[in-house]
Amino acid sequence: MKPLASPAEAEKNIALFSFAITGVIFVVVAGLIFFTLWKFRRKKGEDELREPAQVYGSNQIEVAWTIIPLLIVFILIGVTARVIAGVENASPPKDVTKITIIGHQWWWEVKYPDYDIVTANEIHVPALPDGKAASYLRLESADVIHSFWLPQLSGKTDLIPNRDNFMWINPKEPGVYFGNCAEYCGTQHANMLLRVVAQTPEDFKKWASEQQQNAVSAAAMTPQRAEFESLSCVNCHAIKGTVAIGKFGPDLTHLMSRQTLGAGVIDNTPANMRIWVNNPQDPKPGCFMPSLKLTDTELTQVVDYLGSLK
Ligand code: CUA
Repeated sequence: MKPLASPAEAEKNIALFSFAITGVIFVVVAGLIFFTLWKFRRKKGEDELREPAQVYGSNQIEVAWTIIPLLIVFILIGVTARVIAGVENASPPKDVTKITIIGHQWWWEVKYPDYDIVTANEIHVPALPDGKAASYLRLESADVIHSFWLPQLSGKTDLIPNRDNFMWINPKEPGVYFGNCAEYCGTQHANMLLRVVAQTPEDFKKWASEQQQNAVSAAAMTPQRAEFESLSCVNCHAIKGTVAIGKFGPDLTHLMSRQTLGAGVIDNTPANMRIWVNNPQDPKPGCFMPSLKLTDTELTQVVDYLGSLK
């Protein structure tokens, strides 16, 4: 209920409107119940077995309690449809940042086609106080239906295989906004967390130009890098400028610029990185990354190498 973008604001207003109408209905119905309980309670000296007066059929009452709820329902439908159409058809401001978001079991692939950036689980977007910096999101799925939900920025939109959905957001202040998958999509549905990092346009540009670079370590071959490249990690993960070009898992080119591992399951710290690489099934049971059963030495080298991916 603390919206910070135009679509979420419209949705908050309609939520309050519906709440007001249903609140009045609640008060009237509950009031009548209590009034009836009080008015027709058994009074001293009354015959316990006496039946209350039975009333059958009243056209006025029946017509009234059919028509009034119908009217209320139509008002709610009309207002809701107007807000939904308004949010969906609103043309976003010019110069939008285009972002493609692909739901995977159980993480988010994030691409910036105009910048040639691929990252995961963290969406950086520009923010301006008047909401003039908008990001236009293309929502796709790589496997099953997911749902993209950032409560403070916009409503839910499904990510459906073989279908493109769209959404736009215009955060009004810099900050980190949390989101989640909102459609059950398998074992780790609850652990595909999203964070939107809204930044001033200058900070966003800076972030984007850093992300466009190759991995810092891509220039030099080190024993750590050689170890990583000799393992099957490269079949699933990509690191720009190296032989790792896998597409199944998250792009690791700038892994250390992200705040979490496993789509929000644990913080991105060296100790957690070791836990994750040793056996991803520990922190995130059921996820599709297997334990490679590395020896201690191999594990240290791989974790060192990943830690260099600034
Ligand atoms: Cu993806 Cu639930």
